[in-house]
Amino acid sequence: MAKQNIDWSNIGFGYMKTGERFVSNYKDGKWDDGILTEDATVTISECAGVLQYAQTVFEGLKAYTTANGKTVVFRPDLNAKRLQDSCERLEMPVYPTDKFIEAIRKVVKANEDFVPPYGTGATLYIRPYMFGTNPVIGVKPADEYQFRVFTTPVGPYFKGGAKPITIKVSDFDRAAPHGTGHIKAGLNYAMSLHAIVTAHAEGFDENMYLDAATRTKVEETGGANFLFITKDGKVVTPKSNSILPSITRRSLIYVAEHYLGLEVEEREVFFDEVKDFAECGLCGTAAVISPVGKIYDHGNEICFPSGMEEMGPITKKLYETLTGIQMGTIEAPEGWIVEI
Ligand code: PLP
Ligand code: COI
Repeated sequence: MAKQNIDWSNIGFGYMKTGERFVSNYKDGKWDDGILTEDATVTISECAGVLQYAQTVFEGLKAYTTANGKTVVFRPDLNAKRLQDSCERLEMPVYPTDKFIEAIRKVVKANEDFVPPYGTGATLYIRPYMFGTNPVIGVKPADEYQFRVFTTPVGPYFKGGAKPITIKVSDFDRAAPHGTGHIKAGLNYAMSLHAIVTAHAEGFDENMYLDAATRTKVEETGGANFLFITKDGKVVTPKSNSILPSITRRSLIYVAEHYLGLEVEEREVFFDEVKDFAECGLCGTAAVISPVGKIYDHGNEICFPSGMEEMGPITKKLYETLTGIQMGTIEAPEGWIVEI
């Protein structure tokens, strides 16, 4: 399929309407087969569960053009599983893994002209999501749901691409202990909007959230997990029940250990020790690995030795290995790459 005429190398992280999207409805206790449609709009009751009580969950993954011209997606089985975990926490019906992967395949295939060519730095972002559609006025779960998957070509999540960013320690909390921080619920992002608008207005690219209970431990940002590199080359990443279990982070831990021979510690990370790390990065589907150069904490600055110009050397190796696996220039572990 001929590619769209888009300036792929210069697109940002935004929404662009593509050709077809997948839509499936849940009613009377079961999912229908779903369809592909060109209709990018949603019509639901004014009293739909999603509109009144925010009953909605989502996922994010990407399709890539490999060096030899194939279209692939990265570990969609893990997105299917995480969506199921999100649904269970919000009392929503789960969407089965095989149907989820089939829906991803169909949508990517239908929009292959929007999958950015190899080497442009852009990718096709895939957004599966589910929401309660029938009227709900007493606080309770909906009975009817819609599952949709759309795609949009995207460039780097942070302006400037691989340039290190500056973040601030937020005065707001993202997730409560025993709350919903570990799932991908829209409500987690709604409550982060004031914090991100505030951070941007103050000139920062993102927030670092600390644990809500003690405000001594590093959690994550609004849309990515943290990776730190110690001065002796170890990878350290926060462990917490209230952060999203990033698929990128889990993949990078494997890459660090099995491809790069690095030691990895997944453990509680106290904010007090952050000043001693050599490198810091944010990892996620959208963020890939975005290097952090500086953290601002109420008048104090932590400046990582890797500086504000380039990714630190170990972060760079992790980045190159992961993207090499995704783009087909480095052999992937069994089952990570699904060809469309
Ligand atoms: N943390 C949050 C809050 C996110 O929204 C995301 C994005 O999905 C991530 C972490 C990274 O997760 P993943 O690597 O699975 O995209
Ligand atoms: C993703 O990385 O897929 C996300 O959902 C993060 C979001 C901030 C865009």
